[in-house]
Amino acid sequence: MRTILVTGANGQLGRELRTLSEGRRDRFLFSDITQPGGEDTLSLDITNPDAVRIVCASEQVDVIINCAAYTDVERAEGDLGMADLLNHKAVAALADIARETGALLVHVSTDYVFDGRSNRPYTEEDEPAPTSIYGITKMMGERAVLRSGCRHLLVRSAWLYSRYGKNFVKTMLTLTASKRSIKVVADQVGCPTWAADLAEAILALLDAGATGLVHFAGGGRASWFELAGAVNVLSGHGCQVLPIPSSEYPSRVLRPAFSALDCSRYTALTGRSVPQWHDSLAAFLKDYLS
Ligand SMILES: NC(=O)c1ccc[n+]([C@@H]2O[C@H](COP(=O)([O-])OP(=O)(O)OC[C@H]3O[C@@H](n4cnc5c(N)ncnc54)[C@H](OP(=O)(O)O)[C@@H]3O)[C@@H](O)[C@H]2O)c1
Repeated sequence: MRTILVTGANGQLGRELRTLSEGRRDRFLFSDITQPGGEDTLSLDITNPDAVRIVCASEQVDVIINCAAYTDVERAEGDLGMADLLNHKAVAALADIARETGALLVHVSTDYVFDGRSNRPYTEEDEPAPTSIYGITKMMGERAVLRSGCRHLLVRSAWLYSRYGKNFVKTMLTLTASKRSIKVVADQVGCPTWAADLAEAILALLDAGATGLVHFAGGGRASWFELAGAVNVLSGHGCQVLPIPSSEYPSRVLRPAFSALDCSRYTALTGRSVPQWHDSLAAFLKDYLS
């Protein structure tokens, strides 16, 4: 039986891992910087390496799954120090601890490490060239893991949504329910991914003994406009969803125009296919709205 420490366990991915952990043979320790009342969460700040080291040693942690991150892409543009601390420096420290203790570090990164100029889905061999503070700090985190020499599984994903926290799908559910028409960016394309699918994929990769860099995201691709349209139709809302270019959407972030991920390595490693984004969205909405 492995002991698996999950950091940032109160976020979207962490909570889905919590759900999936029930019924598994591994021993899970869930931790986050905050401890919501009534939940079994260790208080652990990943920017405090001494605290992480103590938990890893005292609990004999075999695997660290790092779900903690600075994920507010918009706010990161004005908050380089904090984004770098969480997405890069703290990750470098986690990698050092993993190397010292022999634990496997599972770290999650993003499609926003790419510049979006490709005309085909990005593979693990493609060179990152991020265009945002979030993307730059996440790339630095990836590089710190690779440089550290620790055993690692680096999973890049994209466009996460879930019933937890703030995300695009939940925002579109609210907007399409309350407005007659909305305008949504149509010239940025990626892979919408249900955090529950990502959590399952991470556990499947762990079970397969996978290491190295692996892409996992919802199958197919969509623009924000197409994703909003699908939310509108699947939830039975009668909103008019209109396409706009990103130049008409006020933002400080230069987001990649195309950041679809090629997930064939995931399929080769696990023998599993990638759930199509539209099927997962339908399953999520059925569950969330019932
Ligand atoms: N969200 C996306 O669209 C997306 C896309 C691609 C990749 N990813 C990556 O996937 C991973 C999981 O993303 P997510 O959406 O599940 O993130 P999330 O919902 O923002 O969750 C992150 C969690 O980390 C916690 N946290 C913040 N600072 C911490 C610290 N110093 N120590 C410990 N925990 C801390 C947060 O607590 P507070 O809420 O209290 O700050 C939150 O509970 C991240 O690595 C992210 O970069 C996300």
